[in-house]
This record gives sequence, C-alpha cells and structure tokens, in this order.
Amino acid sequence: MRRFSTLILLCLLTVTESVLASVLAIDYGADWIKASLMKPGVPFDVLLNKDSKRKIQSSVGWKQSDRLFGSDALNIAGRFPLDTFSSLKYLQAAPYNSNAVSFYTSISSADVVETSRGTVALRRSDGTEWSVEELIAMQFAYVRELAESLAGERVYDVVVTVPPYYTQFERDAVVDAIEIAGMRTLALVNDGTAVAVNYAMTRTFPTPENHIIYDAGASSIRATVVNFASVVSDPKAKSLTKDSTQLSVTGVGFDRTTGGTELDRRLRNLMLDDFQRKHKKDLRGDKRAMAKLWKEAGRVKTVLSANADATATIESLSDDIDYRSKLTRAEFEEACQDLKGRYAQPIFDALEHAGLTLDNVTSVILTGGASRTPMIQSAVKAAVGDNKIALNVNADEAAVLGAALHGASLSRQFKTKDIKVSDIGAYDIQVSYLSEPKSPSTKTRTLSTLVLPAGSKTGSKKTLTFRRTEDFTVNLSYQTPPLDGFPTDLLAVDIIGVSDAIRNLTELGAVEPVVKATVSLSESGFASIRDAIAVGEYKSESIADKLKGFFGAGSSSSSEAGAEAETAARDDATTSSTADASPTADKAPVKDEPISLELKINFPSLAPMTVEEKRSARERLLAVDNEEAAKRRREEARNTLEGYLYRVRDLLDDTSETPFMKCSQEQERKAIQERLQETFSWLYEHGDDADTAQYLDKRSSLEVLERPIIHRYEEIQEFPRALNNSQMWNWHGRLFITEAKANLTAEIETGVPSKYTKEELDAVEKTLIEHEKWLNEWVEKQKAVKTNEDPVLLTSEMKARAKVLENQLQKLVRKKAPRTTKKASATSSSSSSAGASETSAATSASASSTTSAVPPTDDSGHGHDEL
Ligand SMILES: *[C@@H]1O[C@H](CO)[C@@H](O)[C@H](O)[C@H]1NC(C)=O
Ligand SMILES: *[C@@H]1O[C@H](CO)[C@@H](O)[C@H](O)[C@H]1NC(C)=O
Ligand SMILES: *[C@@H]1O[C@H](CO)[C@@H](O)[C@H](O)[C@H]1NC(C)=O
Ligand SMILES: *[C@@H]1O[C@H](CO)[C@@H](O)[C@H](O)[C@H]1NC(C)=O
Ligand SMILES: *[C@@H]1O[C@H](CO)[C@@H](O)[C@H](O)[C@H]1NC(C)=O
Repeated sequence: MRRFSTLILLCLLTVTESVLASVLAIDYGADWIKASLMKPGVPFDVLLNKDSKRKIQSSVGWKQSDRLFGSDALNIAGRFPLDTFSSLKYLQAAPYNSNAVSFYTSISSADVVETSRGTVALRRSDGTEWSVEELIAMQFAYVRELAESLAGERVYDVVVTVPPYYTQFERDAVVDAIEIAGMRTLALVNDGTAVAVNYAMTRTFPTPENHIIYDAGASSIRATVVNFASVVSDPKAKSLTKDSTQLSVTGVGFDRTTGGTELDRRLRNLMLDDFQRKHKKDLRGDKRAMAKLWKEAGRVKTVLSANADATATIESLSDDIDYRSKLTRAEFEEACQDLKGRYAQPIFDALEHAGLTLDNVTSVILTGGASRTPMIQSAVKAAVGDNKIALNVNADEAAVLGAALHGASLSRQFKTKDIKVSDIGAYDIQVSYLSEPKSPSTKTRTLSTLVLPAGSKTGSKKTLTFRRTEDFTVNLSYQTPPLDGFPTDLLAVDIIGVSDAIRNLTELGAVEPVVKATVSLSESGFASIRDAIAVGEYKSESIADKLKGFFGAGSSSSSEAGAEAETAARDDATTSSTADASPTADKAPVKDEPISLELKINFPSLAPMTVEEKRSARERLLAVDNEEAAKRRREEARNTLEGYLYRVRDLLDDTSETPFMKCSQEQERKAIQERLQETFSWLYEHGDDADTAQYLDKRSSLEVLERPIIHRYEEIQEFPRALNNSQMWNWHGRLFITEAKANLTAEIETGVPSKYTKEELDAVEKTLIEHEKWLNEWVEKQKAVKTNEDPVLLTSEMKARAKVLENQLQKLVRKKAPRTTKKASATSSSSSSAGASETSAATSASASSTTSAVPPTDDSGHGHDEL
C-alpha cells in the first residue's frame, strides 16, 4: 500500500514542471475564499486582501460600471440585487434544470439563464450574461492579483480545494475557471485531505492513527476518514530514506443539502414570516428586500452562535419600513429541527465507507465555519462523544494552508515535510460497451463493468482487456446519478484502428491478440481512458493457463464476455504495477511490440468547456480588465491634474520669499496664471468627459511653463556642492603634482627609477591649470546672475569638467610603480588588480592603497577625509 502511494507521488511529480516559482492555493467556498501563497522568501501564511482581511467574501458584483469583489460586492447586494453574485459554488457545472439551480434561486435574487452548454449563466441588469465559470474566474483572477502583488511576479500555478464529493463535471468547471483566470491547475485537492495535510505537518504518528476531518461548510457537511502513519527513518541506515508521513483517505461521507447556507435560509424565512406578520406584507418577490434579508440572516446567525438572542435590524427594508426584530437561538434551532439528525450522519457514512467504527478513530477534527454553530457542534459531540472532539486546527484556514503545503510538495522546490497523500474517489465508475456481434445477424448486448468502485485510490490505473476485431466505443459513467439533475455519462471513448492492428499481430503469429485499454483515476479525481494498445498473446508459453484464469472460462472460444477489469478481482498490487509505467510494461507475455491504438474522446453529456470557449471567455475577462485599467489611468490622470493645478495655484498665491517666487519673473508668473485659469475652466466644462491623454496634455502644457523656474532653483541648490567638488579636485591635483615633482627630482638625483615621467606630470598640470582658470572665470560670471534668471554656469558642466581632471589624476595614481623598488613589490598585488580594471573607474580601495594624495573616485568628494 505504501509503496503504491509513493508511486502515485512520483507520477504526479513527473507531470509538473520543474521551474515553478510560486504556488497559489485557493480554498473556494460558497461563502468565503481563502488563499495562500508559497514562494521562497515570502513568509508562509494566508493571503491578506486589500483591507488586510484573512478571508474574502465569495462575491462579485457591479455598482453600475464598477466591478467589485469580496465584501464590497456583498455590501451592494441590497441596492443592486441583479448585479451581485454570491454562493456561485452551488452552480458549478450545474445543469439548468438541476436541483442545484432551483436551490440557488431560492437563496439568491440573481437572474439565472441557460447557456449553450446547458449549464447556467447569470444575467446582469444591463442584460450582459456571465457564465458561472467566468464569474468564478474573475474571483480567481482577483486572488491571483493579490498573490502577484505579494510575490512581485506573475503567479501561474494553483491548487484549488474541492469537496470530496465533487463530480467530474464540477471538477472540470473548477479547472475551466482556473484557466479562464489565466492560471494552470497544479492539482485539485479534496478539502478534507488538505486539512489532513495541514494536520500532519506538525505531528508524527509512530503508531498509525485514524482521524475524521469533519467539515461543516456553507454548502455542505462532509467527513473524511484519514489514516496517518509515520515512517521514521533509521538513523543508522545511510540510505536516502527520510522521515515521512503517509496519509491515506479511507472513507468519505457527505450531505450536500445541509450547511451554513441552509441555516441562513431558515433564518431568513423566520424573518420573512415575522415581517409578514408585523407588516402584512410578503417580501418574497422583492429582490432588494430579499438580498438585504439574506445578508442580515448571515450576520444574525453569527451573533446567535455566541449569544442566546440577536437583534435583526434593516433600515428601510421595504417601502421605507425599518425592520427590527429580536430573534432567539431557541427559535432558530426550532426552525432547523428537521436537520438535527443530519449534522453528524456524514461521520457515520464515512466510517462505514472506510470499514471502521468510532472505536478505531482517535479524534474528530472540526473544521469549517458552520462547525462553530452551537447546534451543529452539540449534535456532533452527542454523536461521537465529547472526548473525541478535537478543535486543534484553525477551522477557517487549515484547508487552504494544507492545500498550499500540498502544492509545495508537488512543485518540489520547497523543503517541506515529506507527506505522501493517497486519496479516493467518491463514486462508482463503470465502463460499458457493446459486445461484438459474432455474425451480422446476431444481436449485440451492452456489457458493463464496475471499473473504479467508490473508494478507488486516486492515481490508480486499471487495464481492461477486450477481444475485439473491429473499432468499438467504451463508455465511462457513474453507476448511479451522483446528484439530482446531473448526468451519469462521463466519456465515450472510440478506440480506432483495431482491425488493422489485430490483423497485423495475427500475421506476425500472435494467437489471441487483444485490445487493452487503461482506465485511470487522476490525483485530482478525474477518471479517463488514457491509452489503448493491441497486443499479442502467445499460446506456446505456459502462461496460457494463467491467462485462462484472467479471462474466465469462456474467453478462449467466445469473445462475447471478452472483457473484464483485469484488476477488479485483485487489488492494489496489480494497479500499482501499472501506476508508474505505461501498459507496455505490463507483465503480459509479449513477444512483439504492442501497437498503439488511436483514442477519440467524446463527451456525451456535460462537456467541459472547449479550448475555444475558454479562450473567448478569457478574452472577455481581459477586456473587462483592460477597460478597468484604462478607467483607473483616466481617474489617476484627472486626479493628478487636479492636484497639480491646486499646487500651482498655491505657489502663485504665496507672495512670500518662496523658492518659486525667488526663481520666477513677473511675466512668467503671469503666463502661468493665465494658463492655470484656462485649465481650471476647461476642467470645469469638459473634465467629466475628457480622456486620459487630454488630462496629461493639460498638465504638461503647464509644466512646460514651470520647468525653467524649477531648473533655476535646482541649480541654485546644487551649485555649492558642484563648486566644492571642482575645487576639491583642483586642490588634490595641485597637491599631487607638487609631491610627484619633488619625488621625481629626488629620484633623478639618487638614480632610482621614477614612477612618473616629466611629460606625464606636465600634461596633468596643464589640465589642472586650464580647469582652475575656467572655473574662476565662470564662477565670477555666474555670481552676476540673479536668482530668477537662467544660470550661465551649469552644475552638470562643472561636474563633467572636474571628472576630466579626476580621470587624468586617477590614471597616474593607478600606474604601476617600477618593479625594482621595495615599495613596488609590496604593493604589486594591489596595483595589478587595480590595473586589471583600468578601464573602469578605480575602486576606492585600490586608489587609496596606492596613494594618499588622490582620494577615491567619488563625485561627492567624501574621500577628502582620508587625506
Ligand atoms: C477497529 O476496532 C475494532 C474494535 O475495537 C477492532 O476489532 C478492529 O481491529 C479495529 N480495526 C482497525 C482497522 O483498526
Ligand atoms: C455510450 O454512450 C453513447 C453516448 O451517450 C451512447 O450513444 C451509447 O449508447 C453508449 N453505449 C453504451 C454501450 O452504453
Ligand atoms: C499493419 O501493417 C501494415 C503493413 O506492414 C502497415 O502499413 C500498417 O501501418 C500496420 N498497421 C498498424 C496499425 O500497425
Ligand atoms: C612620493 O614618494 C613617497 C615616498 O616614496 C610616496 O609615499 C608618495 O606616494 C609619492 N608621491 C607621489 C605623488 O607619487
Ligand atoms: C565641501 O566638502 C567638504 C568635504 O566633503 C565639506 O566638509 C564641506 O562642508 C563642503 N562645503 C560645501 C560648501 O559643501
């Protein structure tokens, strides 16, 4: 079993890319979105939204043309009931005629319409329609942007939690939304499993333990039985094995009709009835009122979790009637009486599924927002006993953190604890196909085999063997409808090229060539038929008897019952052997290469979105993004212009000795004043319908007038520093030349080889004298310039000329001393390293180690202190 799960992990790892940067995890709930980012160097935590909240309301809405998310969207629901969309999770993949949709219309005022795919879209008040996938993609993209601003880079890879009961259709809808949001699905992870990963992260299990993750969310209640077992490596063994924890889901139970949302609905009904009693008015047709009541019901429920009563208050609920009413917890619980037996039931279903009893379970770990509701908590306590209840994980965040940790382990670039995860499928999945007619007159029959029974491990593969001579179709379907109104058919897979392949194998001497097709359940819970081959079986070998065992008694003569889930009778031992290898590695006695057959996958019922559909949805979303970005830019340009105008007005108004006043002339101020007036009146008249470029133009036409004034002021500010720098280089130059000339004279007298030639020193001196002369002359001229006139000597030119002198000096300083002297050998290493970088600016270290007369290269002249 354990070995098998290792293989699962290996399989997954090979399909993920190795150059991932950040991994985003999203726990997408009917009420709340939680997200977490895994990025090297960024502290691992739950992602905060713009208001530093740790969870984001699962709502998207429009206030006229402004799109809003989270609580901003929810808060406008009372005013814009047709433009605010919440609880969208209920609608993922939901067929228009399903119960899910009718339930949704009982809790939401949104206008539900059918899409061309048979799923649902929501119609805004302006008539535009957005599919559920698009609306959820907007929320995913919103979270992605939050993550990107934290990561400082584009985020692509995402792990999204799904309830364990999510059908393949719903999982497809999640993946479609992820792709429309511009991301890649690293994995979907069942939320109970994600909580288990988080739980295991800080614990070890020297003896295996079973725990139940009980998750009471908004849309459902579910329970997951998880077995935890740690493998502690032998410290003496020098193998690569390290401590790891194996986490195996063994059972799930769920109730898709009970949860926080249903409680909200009951509470709202209480308020509706109460209002009707008091005001003789039924609000059920009033969308605004219903939306306001819905929001208040959620708030009151939270208050009632901690208090025995709560006061509902809604201003002008309908026709300016303010609604105010006291609600007690007892009334609320009375209204939910019929649900009482359902709260704990998923626990028992999960246990039964796992083949365990409560005695086998160490604790029942409570998670999910609704687990805080007293009546749910006490029902669970009563069912499993107080001593089994564990409140040791964060009910809101354990799932998203676990999902992020899971994603991190899949991406392999993070050092996280080694947790191996093995999950299960929740539904019986069967294959069906028509038998091959023996002659044109015989009838065909439909044959069905349960290929992935509920509880099959994710990552498992099963090989089906068919005795066929012609192309045929294999259907993959749920054995029973997983959810009211949802179809059962998943895929219809045409296996193509059979007759050709079988003929060829027969010609090559194969006695009983067969078709083998592999059905797999992916880590993210998708069932599919991945590949099919035709392969020869050879009678001559003693395996023949074994084969008989595989194919049943009739297999050698009759082909009618010719297929069986080869592994159905056996268990994981066989599935694991194919889990890491293509069917070619199957143990079947193969002499010749198997022949790959072509597969054509059709979706007979609820198809995932096509690439085309996703692309056009993505483009729609991008168009909205672009429109919003343009709007933001326009707003920004307008605001900056306004701010600028007021600043200029203040500058003109302040007649004291401000820099602006000192550096400007009367007629300049007059020109600015005129243009300012002009711009103010333009803004007043056309400000509301101008475009971004016009705002920018208006600003720059004023800036042009202000710029010379700013320039004068900046030059005045900068002048002393520039002058200091120029003078400093004069001073250093003079010092250097005097000293070097003295040295030269002494060296000539004593016959020691000299470092510099006379010519070199004369050349520097010439530059120095010219620079001194130029500086004196122009500083004098500049002194005569008034502060409101343009400078005649620019600091940029001063710096450039000082640099010329500096460079010439540095070049001499860096020059290698003659080798024969003691000094030279002592500094040879530093001077040679400096010489290597001669073309670049000398580093301060090399310059100062060679001489004390010239400071390091540094325009600011800080090196002066070193003299
Ligand atoms: C579950 O508990 C029962 C009774 O305590 C015990 O007999 C059984 O072996 C346990 N099963 C497992 C899988 O631990
Ligand atoms: C397979 O599915 C297709 C499409 O739904 C259907 O027409 C066909 O009858 C199915 N075949 C069997 C054997 O169930
Ligand atoms: C069967 O054999 C023929 C002749 O060698 C070859 O052209 C054809 O591609 C083969 N078909 C398959 C399915 O291998
Ligand atoms: C002049 O000689 C002294 C003593 O050798 C030396 O320290 C100094 O760096 C020399 N100065 C210049 C500018 O070469
Ligand atoms: C010139 O530079 C020196 C050293 O960096 C500093 O002490 C002095 O205050 C500066 N003078 C001016 C006017 O900036």
